Formats: sequence, C-alpha cells, structure tokens
Amino acid sequence: MTSQPGPKPIYVLNGPNLNLLGSREPEVYGRDTLKDVETACVDRAKALGKTIIFRQTNAEGQLVDWLHEARDKACAVVLNAGAYTHTSIALHDAIKSLEIPVIETHLSNPASREPFRHVSTISAVAKGVISGFGLTSYVLAVEAAARLAADPAS
Ligand code: DQA
Repeated sequence: MTSQPGPKPIYVLNGPNLNLLGSREPEVYGRDTLKDVETACVDRAKALGKTIIFRQTNAEGQLVDWLHEARDKACAVVLNAGAYTHTSIALHDAIKSLEIPVIETHLSNPASREPFRHVSTISAVAKGVISGFGLTSYVLAVEAAARLAADPAS
C-alpha cells in the first residue's frame, strides 16, 4: 500500500480499559468518556491545522502494531498505554523504533498513586510525559505533538 498523500496525522493511541472511561473509577479518571476525549483532540488538532487518528485497544500487541504503522504514517504519537505503561518492554522497544516524537499521556498522575504505578517502562523512550489533567492531558499532548511535528526542536 502506498502512503497517504498530504500532511501526516497525529496518532492518539489508547490502551486497556480506556474504553470504559466515564464509568470506570470516575473519582480517579473523571466523567469524560473516550468519545469526549476524541472530540477534544480532534478540535484542538483542527485549530492547529492537524488531523487525528484516534484508536483504543485492550491488546498490547495491537498497540505495538499501531506504533509500527505510525513510523511511516504519523507525524507524532500521543500514547496512553494504560496499565501497559508499567509493564511493557514490548512497547518500550516499539517506541524506540520510531523517529517521530511519542508523548506519554495519562489522565491521572501515576506518581501520586500506588507504588506499582510509579514505574514507567516507556517514559525513557518518550519525548515527554503529560499526566494528571484528565481530558486536558490529551489536549496538551496534541498541542505538544503539533508543535514538535512543525519544529522538532520546539
Ligand atoms: C492511566 C494510568 C495507569 O496507571 C492506569 O493503569 C490506566 C490509566 C491514566 O490515564 O491515568 O489505565 O494511564
């Protein structure tokens, strides 16, 4: 398959349990649904002249495949890997294979939660990390992604 013409989109990739956003532990993750998050990302990207590919999966290998796809097809990746953030060497290796920036993103602030969430296997290979602002974490991540895509030194 040939690659898409025109400017490349920002991939926003979501991992396990994020399909339940809005009803899952709302005291931690808020009442916004994943659809609300998608809309906020699309709106922010549009204002910045960018487009979004927004996806969610509960499968680690699917995230790996989408990261591989992003190597050619995306200008940047916003990644909320959910609990795989704390366990996945496969995601670490996949991110390492990308030349485009990957922004690790979380709704909550894992550093203020249980000790097992204090470890991230992906932070070391991410361009940066945005956590703790709920839906706004994604909006800030899309903004960072758009800026980095326009100017990798920004
Ligand atoms: C999360 C934080 C992770 O620790 C957790 O496993 C999630 C969501 C967040 O967005 O705050 O599933 O990535």
